[in-house]
Amino acid sequence: MAAPKILIIPGSLRSGSHNAKLAAAAAHEFAQAGMDVTRISLGDFSLPIYDADLQAKTGLPKNAVNLKRMIAAHQGVLLVTPEYNSSVPALVKNSIDWVSRVQDAHEIRGQVFRERPFAIASASEGRLGGTRALAALRLILCACHATVIPNQLALSFANEAYDDMDKLKHPGDIDALQALVRQLIDVSQHMM
Ligand SMILES: Cc1cc2nc3c(=O)[nH]c(=O)nc-3n(C[C@H](O)[C@H](O)[C@H](O)COP(=O)(O)O)c2cc1C
Repeated sequence: MAAPKILIIPGSLRSGSHNAKLAAAAAHEFAQAGMDVTRISLGDFSLPIYDADLQAKTGLPKNAVNLKRMIAAHQGVLLVTPEYNSSVPALVKNSIDWVSRVQDAHEIRGQVFRERPFAIASASEGRLGGTRALAALRLILCACHATVIPNQLALSFANEAYDDMDKLKHPGDIDALQALVRQLIDVSQHMM
């Protein structure tokens, strides 16, 4: 079976981001499993806050179209989100909102979400590891008709989770990440 191409999207732009580190650790696991993996920064797809008047006046921003096409070029997507006030950061929600408005020729609304599986992970310094952000993100993606795989990873106490090389230290966290990676590969292959 062909190897799916995997896209990883960290939901934080912060230097030293726990979520960016988790995204990097996931990229390593996908590469170890022989996958072709792309890790992007949403900083390269900066977008105004969604405004339907703006869309009506000037059309879809190029970055919304580019981000949608970046997703479309992969067979599986991992979103790694921080938790802000028990939900997803505006950066993550706004990016999804814009992408959900992009409809290329001959596509049905939300086709890019429908055609490939999504996995979700989060990292937080708290005990819950961003569990509430994951619940919110799962709901948002399901509203976009995405298949969100059952496995997810909430990395708690993220400030103590990495070694000096930014690798995950604790075997339980590594196991959970590997299980997530395996399931996304599996479902991506079945949906190809
Ligand atoms: C506006 C704001 C709200 C936050 N709310 C939560 C929260 O509800 N739960 C939580 O665990 N951490 C919360 N945090 C802490 C973030 O999880 C922490 O800043 C984390 O390091 C952000 O992810 P990053 O390291 O990938 O940038 C919040 C941080 C900010 C800036």
